[in-house]
Amino acid sequence: MGDLAGIRSHLVDLAWLGVDALWISPFYPSPMVDFGYDVSDYCGVDPLFGTLEEFDRMITDAHALGLKVIIDWVPNHTSDQHPWFVDASSGRDSGRRDWYVWRDGAADGSPPNNWVAAFDLSAPAWTFDDRSGQWFLHLFEEAQPDLNWDQGEVVGAMHDVLRFWLDRGVDGFRADVVHCIGKDPDLPDDPPEVAGIPHCALNDVPVTHHRLQAIRSLIDEYPGDRVIVGEVYLLSTAAVATYYGDGDELHLAFNFPPLYAPWTSEAWNGCIGETVDALAPRGAWPTWVLSNHDNARHRTRYDRAARLHGEDPAVTMRRSEARARAAAVLLMTLRGSPFLYQGEELGLADAAIPSDRAVDPGGRDGCRAPIPWTDADDHGWPTTGAAGPWLPFAPEAALRNHAAQRADPSSVLHLYRRLLALRHGRRALSVGTFTLLDLPVGLVGYVREHDDELAVVLVNFTDDRIELPGGIRVPHEPGTGPSAEPRDPLEIGGLQVLLTSDGIAEGEAFVGAVLADQAMVLGY
Ligand code: NOJ
Repeated sequence: MGDLAGIRSHLVDLAWLGVDALWISPFYPSPMVDFGYDVSDYCGVDPLFGTLEEFDRMITDAHALGLKVIIDWVPNHTSDQHPWFVDASSGRDSGRRDWYVWRDGAADGSPPNNWVAAFDLSAPAWTFDDRSGQWFLHLFEEAQPDLNWDQGEVVGAMHDVLRFWLDRGVDGFRADVVHCIGKDPDLPDDPPEVAGIPHCALNDVPVTHHRLQAIRSLIDEYPGDRVIVGEVYLLSTAAVATYYGDGDELHLAFNFPPLYAPWTSEAWNGCIGETVDALAPRGAWPTWVLSNHDNARHRTRYDRAARLHGEDPAVTMRRSEARARAAAVLLMTLRGSPFLYQGEELGLADAAIPSDRAVDPGGRDGCRAPIPWTDADDHGWPTTGAAGPWLPFAPEAALRNHAAQRADPSSVLHLYRRLLALRHGRRALSVGTFTLLDLPVGLVGYVREHDDELAVVLVNFTDDRIELPGGIRVPHEPGTGPSAEPRDPLEIGGLQVLLTSDGIAEGEAFVGAVLADQAMVLGY
């Protein structure tokens, strides 16, 4: 079981890798029905993970290493063990009754509406409370009742939680399903054509934007660069974009369509184009994520999809790491903030979870396996005892562990480190404009520019070498970003290979071809 002291002991490894900030999933007191996303005290630390003092030591050390710390804030729901819900569910006359969403059932005894909860798609998002004869709303597990943000005291209490952690020095929050803190007051049925999709993927109402403006004002009161990044789990990038407001709501919002995109140039050109179209007019800064704690890791997803499309398993095995490496180049060079999920820097695939070790109600254990830090049998988790860690390790942990890959300059870990160093060293890659190139099918390419600095990125999604006989021609449309100017089409020549996903040809002149499954960054 990981804990805050363990994170603290590995901060030096994150600093070595070159990340700027660390996002920690919930460590608050919790019955752990949803592994911390069922919070029973927003201002404490679960004894499993340490103490508030340990948190303070961790954040002090992180800051000393130049790392920012972002924590998870879970505003949509609490645990059913939270004292607020214990009180609210004690009876209809509880002073906190309306801190949660209670309704009478329909005349036929069915739930108040047709909303479906996450995880178990046959389950209504409502549970009947025998004691009071009413239903309460939970967009997730029954043990995670939804807070009622129409209640001013709830807003005040949740703002106080933000202040508590901001005062303790956190650099920001990842706000869990934050698009759900506003609900249509009539709680209407979801339309029949989407009934069956969890309501949390559909909830998109205007009042949430006002609530986010108030949250943003609170965060902006604090000195330093504090950030709020929202999990807006709507599967339309255009819808996600609205949660940036006019620069007065979220600083950043996760954009999930690319995470669900298959590994094809057509799909990625589409996602990138949609992201530019939706965010650029608002001056909103994109985010990119390939893997997280809720989904199969991208290496596993891409392998699975390739096999489903008839790829020979031996070919899949050969291409698996190459694809993950190319994806890393894409992730780190697109315009926006990349979010890495623990272990992707080792090229991990999902762990196989025997049924007797499955613990998560959402079936997400495979991606949540612990990081193998060393090549010892316990992979650096010596305090876990005979039972081993809480989940099995990912496959190939004897090779894919931090220590082994750190000792190997050609490893995936070193690729991530070199990408981060390149990004930090080149303003074109971190803050530059973005222009998508029109390239043959199988390739995605773009140009990033800042002042007189330029970088070109090419990603080959296929198992074949692709030639660019016509060279690289940047179209005349303006790219995105403040310094983008309309200009004539530009022929770029004389490029050097700054970095490749497989290390081949780095430092050489670009010869106009991208190898199978290779991604490259070119520049001067
Ligand atoms: C989204 C989180 O990422 C997920 O892990 C959690 O189960 C739900 N929100 C509910 O809090």
